[in-house]
Amino acid sequence: MIPSKLVEAIRDAQHVCVVTGAGISAESGIPTFREAQQGLWEKHRPEDLATPEAFSRDPDFVWQWYRWRRQLVSKVAPNAAHVAIASLADTVKTLTLITQNVDGLHQRAGSRDVIEFHGNLFVNRCFVEGVIVDVDDDIETAPYCPACAARVRPGVVWFGEGIPADAIQRSLAAAAGCDVFLAVGTSSQVYPAAGLAELAQDNGACAAEFNLEPTPLSSQFDHCVIGKAGTTLPELVELVS
Ligand code: OAD
Repeated sequence: MIPSKLVEAIRDAQHVCVVTGAGISAESGIPTFREAQQGLWEKHRPEDLATPEAFSRDPDFVWQWYRWRRQLVSKVAPNAAHVAIASLADTVKTLTLITQNVDGLHQRAGSRDVIEFHGNLFVNRCFVEGVIVDVDDDIETAPYCPACAARVRPGVVWFGEGIPADAIQRSLAAAAGCDVFLAVGTSSQVYPAAGLAELAQDNGACAAEFNLEPTPLSSQFDHCVIGKAGTTLPELVELVS
């Protein structure tokens, strides 16, 4: 059930800010970070693979894990929740979309200017210089940077690394300046993404959570919509349109 006050707030809004997490891609068949360990990789903890130290130690091993994850994501499609957010952007005056996901499914559903908190699985960066590089990445071993010959890594944010400064700055500005803030499919446990709702509310926004189950921050939201995002978000967009 979508609260009518939320529908009205979105209709009246100048700026809607949306933050998404792993839950929005669940219905596309993408396992969450921890569930992603299957087959060959199940005996390795993500914390042991998704770090700069792991890459330094064995770049090819870490590269193969990400290659496997890229193949997994390439086989799935955006779901109704991704599509709903892309169409909400066409309905409201301004929509800022921030995602903690690295799968690129929002872009494939038609969302533009997505702020990626944790980078993107399909981007390649030089391990030493950090710059984006254009290399043949469909190979078994970590490629070499064309400029400096260092190894090439996936462009995601690893444990122990900071969120890109421009992603933080744009997100803080959007949260502080929006009229309506929506948190979708995120357990709201990982900061600073989890703090954006509070920032929005402190600046007068109405904040709503769309999740399969209550989260540690549920009691702080103005509205909580429990259910699958692939069902609840299309309902919301239909009511707003
Ligand atoms: P989590 O896996 O912590 O939370 C996903 C949330 O989505 C849970 O609360 C689920 O109940 C909910 N959920 C599952 N299926 C859903 C559905 N169909 N519709 C709506 N909600 C659903 O994922 P995040 O909050 O994204 O960081 O986690 C944040 C970050 O923590 C990740 O980006 C990752 C991890 O450490 C890095 O990899 C750097």
